[in-house]
Amino acid sequence: MNYYVLTLFPEMIRQAVDTSILGRAIRSGRISVDTVNIRDFSVNKHNRVDDYPYGGGAGMVMEAEPVCRAVEAAEERIGKKSRVVYLTPQGRVLNQTIVEELAREENLILLCGHYEGIDERVLEQKVTDYLSIGDYVLTGGELGALVLIDAVSRFVPGVLSNEESSQFESLQDNLLEYPHYTRPEIWRGKCVPEILLSGDHRKIEAWRYEKSVERTRERRPDLLQHSYHVTGCWFGGDIQRRAACGLTDSVSRYGAYLDLDRKKLRKQGKVFGSRELLIFVLDPGAEIPEDGQPWRNLQGRNTPLVLAAGESAKGLPRMAEELAARGFAPIAVFENGCGAEKQAEQALEIRKKLEAFWRCQKEESL
Ligand code: ADE
Repeated sequence: MNYYVLTLFPEMIRQAVDTSILGRAIRSGRISVDTVNIRDFSVNKHNRVDDYPYGGGAGMVMEAEPVCRAVEAAEERIGKKSRVVYLTPQGRVLNQTIVEELAREENLILLCGHYEGIDERVLEQKVTDYLSIGDYVLTGGELGALVLIDAVSRFVPGVLSNEESSQFESLQDNLLEYPHYTRPEIWRGKCVPEILLSGDHRKIEAWRYEKSVERTRERRPDLLQHSYHVTGCWFGGDIQRRAACGLTDSVSRYGAYLDLDRKKLRKQGKVFGSRELLIFVLDPGAEIPEDGQPWRNLQGRNTPLVLAAGESAKGLPRMAEELAARGFAPIAVFENGCGAEKQAEQALEIRKKLEAFWRCQKEESL
């Protein structure tokens, strides 16, 4: 990932990125951070880049021309079209989904404003994304750019070591992290929760999930509205099972698995709610059991559905229609396989589709 930061204060960026994990990532070549000093593109003999606002009012406005030239200088260095992100309190508030989406880019141009803002005409011409790091006003975009670089770089392969890895973490499920403990077992009379010493990993996972939900309810109840439970189910062989479990794990830390070929399930059936997500991987060539389709006993209540084939397949859209008639809402269909190499990309697409689905539901209910 290569970042190009357009700023009036390049030293502010340099000082921050050359240390700690970002510094290590730069030295190992996983990321690069180039700064472009907007003042170098001043068209004024006094090197000024700002002027009074038309229409009057307080403060100064950054001129269009130097900003435009600075963007073009970065575009020239990159050699191809890239996203240009303007850091502004007027933008979409950065979140983990946006961060992961940006991490898929090869190059990012980050534009930092100062004073009252930047001439609207160059923004219209050059900016592709408006992003804010929170609902408060900073003195300039540099701290926003640094926050973005830090958060995005964590998703660039090789930036974090295994221990630092970002695979499972807070916010992936819209849940806060469970509490952590390390030695000593008793600190100033306070004990580590006993279950963590039990060695029973299933129980530990269940306890952590419970604590995550409890903590989110207490501290960030707003996040809980966006949390959901994922079930990965499959019909077919080992390929489908692995694909369903892998994709489920990429979407959620706390997903459940369901083998649709289990006789018991076919007898009992299962009902899913609207705060669940069903990921269904199937082998369309598999022999359908005599007693009916494997999804015959699945019932949704406006449950978002992802339908995928473990290998390339046709006919998934028709199956999506059949499942829609059973109360599922297909949000994504992956017809061309969902093997391990595609999972990270597909998981991100699923999360974005899910957010759009809920936005839509919310608007409809208003
Ligand atoms: N520039 C000024 N305030 C900002 C904010 N909240 N986010 C991003 N850039 C900014």
